[in-house]
Amino acid sequence: MPTQSTSPHLPFGENKNAPWYGMDILSVKQFSRTDLEYVFGVAHEMRGMVERVGTFDLLKGKILANLFYEPSTRTSSSFTAAMERLGGSVIPINEVKYSSVSKGESLPDTIRTLECYADVIVLRHPETGSAAIAAKAARKPIINAGDGVGEHPTQALLDLFTISEELGRLDGLTVTMLGDLKYGRTVHSLARLLTLFGARLNYVSPEILRMPKEVMEEVADKGIVQTEFGSLEKVLAETDVLYVTRVQKERFEDVADYEKVKGAYVIDPDVMKAAKSEMIVMHPLPRVGEISPDFDDDPRAAYFRQMEYGLYVRMALLAMVLGKA
Ligand code: CP
Repeated sequence: MPTQSTSPHLPFGENKNAPWYGMDILSVKQFSRTDLEYVFGVAHEMRGMVERVGTFDLLKGKILANLFYEPSTRTSSSFTAAMERLGGSVIPINEVKYSSVSKGESLPDTIRTLECYADVIVLRHPETGSAAIAAKAARKPIINAGDGVGEHPTQALLDLFTISEELGRLDGLTVTMLGDLKYGRTVHSLARLLTLFGARLNYVSPEILRMPKEVMEEVADKGIVQTEFGSLEKVLAETDVLYVTRVQKERFEDVADYEKVKGAYVIDPDVMKAAKSEMIVMHPLPRVGEISPDFDDDPRAAYFRQMEYGLYVRMALLAMVLGKA
């Protein structure tokens, strides 16, 4: 007997005609502005439900396979928490070396295996395009949790949801992305999504870590103003969202290049004196020195709240692809 939902947006019956039922989530390019409003509406409801009741049975009986070929704390544990908050359960494969991957099993075969046991698969993999390869092999929905330096769509969705919840608006913002814009897949996805909201984008990075040309061309095609800088000083005062990234040591071919740029920018209370009082600082985390812990108590430091918003967005996405939202 289905339990009665307390929310009009969270019906407990499975709706196979729901727009996202059975779909893969591979790229932010799949999302229109209307889609985003829908996702954020559901995520907002999820937030309310977690605050009111904690855990509920929307996905009772459903199983998520959480398949991570690369390290993760937030994405992996928030998808686990999301499924469990919704009453479902999880097959965790966070150390592929203990799975048959270590015996040489291919990604498509691993996916075909897991979908025998699970209703949805979340995949993080070091190679760009791996989520699309998995989706081709799978009959069940694949959610891309980061494919190399390609995309991290669920992070971009939670980033945008954070901005919406924190600033109360998404249109016409000045967003400054700082740090490793070459290897930081989260900024590639977020820049693409922000084109839907007429953002002005500033890119501040060392010369060797500039935003990739193909991302800039895609964003430019949408009529968005993008400006590149080597220093934060020129743009901090006008910034509504400062999105800080870690320099991704693991993606450098030559560690000497990493050493040259690793400490290029550090956000601390002194630097932030030049910023507005009504703005936010975000970071996908983990951080390794680019934001001083001395700044953590500043109300503009939104990066820990950002992690929590990720739970609600991932609850929404799981419910959507399983036809329950
Ligand atoms: N932001 C993010 O993807 O963090 P994890 O690598 O810990 O999942």
